Amino acid sequence: MRVIFLGPPGVGKGTQADAIASRFAIAKISTGDLLRDGVANGTALGLKAKEYMDSGGLVPDEVVIGLIEEKLIAPESRTGFLLDGFPRTVAQANTLSEILEEKNQSLDKVVYFVLPREEIVRRLSGRRSCPKCRAVFHVESIPPKKEGICDNCATTLVQRSDDQPDTIQARLSVYEEQTAPLIEYYRDKNNLCELDGSGAVTDVQERLLAALSGS
Ligand code: AP5
Repeated sequence: MRVIFLGPPGVGKGTQADAIASRFAIAKISTGDLLRDGVANGTALGLKAKEYMDSGGLVPDEVVIGLIEEKLIAPESRTGFLLDGFPRTVAQANTLSEILEEKNQSLDKVVYFVLPREEIVRRLSGRRSCPKCRAVFHVESIPPKKEGICDNCATTLVQRSDDQPDTIQARLSVYEEQTAPLIEYYRDKNNLCELDGSGAVTDVQERLLAALSGS
């Protein structure tokens, strides 16, 4: 299966991605995670990406496309993939379509997560992440057992630097301007499936499984 998770920041894509990828035995490819790894490891790519990420803007297409190309030809993507956070511009979507055409492959589904803006802001403002194992929590909805500590590896949780109020607003504006056009782009290709992102994590997962089971 080859699937894209599309939708605004904070809508819950990352929270669902791991479970879905392992359920269908496909590779999860998150450009946000790959870029954050680069920042944490101080790579040239990470240094280049950091200023864009901190301001809430998009990292230039050529940087992200290079990352994705490498992952799509990796052996773990042979059974399929789930793209979380890519593509985010029409140029990225066109490049993805060219890569897939070259490989004689097609997309099964683009899942578009929908959630009211005030709930998106609430989810982003309360998000806490584990810098070590990448587990994601929410201070109110999905709190860790011990405040501020990761349930899985006991590392101190952090707030992402781009989850500050001003940067959240900037990211939402960038999404509307540069990424939202992909909704019509994929609707025109008959790939799009709208998913209600509200409710508990398990409810969203049930809806997702139902939406993907026909793929
Ligand atoms: P990225 O990491 O992709 O961030 P994003 O799309 O902005 O998405 P988020 O990770 O913020 O949200 P999410 O939908 O995954 O929500 P989550 O599951 O965590 O990108 C970061 C930056 O990298 C970008 O701004 C850009 O600079 C750069 N970048 C990345 N890809 C790029 C690309 N292709 N091109 C150019 N630049 C790129 O959930 C959010 C919170 O809600 C969590 O606290 C979670 O616990 C909670 N939550 C989740 N589900 C529920 C639920 N059902 N009920 C209650 N709470 C919930």
